[in-house]
Amino acid sequence: MATILGIESSCDETSASICIDGEIKSNIIASQAIHAKYGGVVPELASRAHQQHIIPTVDQAIQLAKIHKNEIDAVAFTRGPGLLGSLLVGTSFAKSFALARQIPLIEVNHMQAHILAHFIDEPKPQFPFLCLTVSGGHTQIVLVKDYFEMELLGQTLDDAAGEAFDKTAKILNLPYPGGPLIDRHAKEGNPEAFKLPEPQIADLNFSFSGLKTAILYMVQAQEKENPNFLAENMADVCASVQSRIVSILLNKLKKAAKQTGVKEVAIAGGVSANSGLRESLLEMGKRYKWNVYIPKFEYCTDNAAMIAIAGYQKFLQKDFVGQDIAPLSRMHV
Ligand code: KG4
Ligand code: ZN
Repeated sequence: MATILGIESSCDETSASICIDGEIKSNIIASQAIHAKYGGVVPELASRAHQQHIIPTVDQAIQLAKIHKNEIDAVAFTRGPGLLGSLLVGTSFAKSFALARQIPLIEVNHMQAHILAHFIDEPKPQFPFLCLTVSGGHTQIVLVKDYFEMELLGQTLDDAAGEAFDKTAKILNLPYPGGPLIDRHAKEGNPEAFKLPEPQIADLNFSFSGLKTAILYMVQAQEKENPNFLAENMADVCASVQSRIVSILLNKLKKAAKQTGVKEVAIAGGVSANSGLRESLLEMGKRYKWNVYIPKFEYCTDNAAMIAIAGYQKFLQKDFVGQDIAPLSRMHV
């Protein structure tokens, strides 16, 4: 029997989860509404909010799992990558908890955890599989050979896919985080309405900064002709933007599948909640006879269940760390 407490605090969600023998019993997420009025995450406000949320969030996760804190066998926490001040709150809490209870401490890489979220529910992917990890800070194609043996095949050279959504939303005067709002508007729009460029990047890397500029120029030009352009065309603009971001992502994923010959294909991270990406990946999977893995919505964006499940695998391998461990703002998969 192994009961793991998972802690996530890398960005603007404070989350705690209990995993018992590989099964998630609770996954509590405290979001930080405060950042919306600043149009993005303010690091100092994020770490302060984590400090306020961490204890009640852990208490709720323990209560919902119907266990006593004395039953926890190990504590797993996000070491990085992320905002250093935010990571420090989760790391310090996890270290104190492990020290007080005299239980093992497990460090988890946030980007690996997004991928390992696929081991929470059935069906689970078979190794090796490809994972397109798309979040607010990262865009990566990873060849996953084993739980903690991952090879980075490609990544973004500038903005992440989530940033492309969020920065476009800003141009369209939509509040932060704009990804989910673009998704909602896109459902009512025509993806062919506005032609947007696809960057010509060799290999399996991505670039989104040119697309953002193209959208800005297109909106400015249209607004010169019609000051109500955005109000009248929001759904079509969002559908066109979303369809272009999805095609950039999936064309590279198709290329990676062809190059590696791997037919087990997964997506992970906050942008994997996007309905256009989910639908197009399913269609592509049928066409190319891939086995496609799409996480449940609650495991796409930041959550501690993915930290707890990654921690459970490390617990089985007795992969523990000492009290001298420090968070890292940058970490590779
Ligand atoms: O993984 P995540 O929660 O946090 C990071 O580790 O960055 O990802 C957050 C990102 C944000 O950029 C947000 O706009 C985007 O995921 N996102 C979406 C959707 N839901 C969240 N983007 C597009 N469509 C969505 N439905
Ligand atoms: Zn994340």
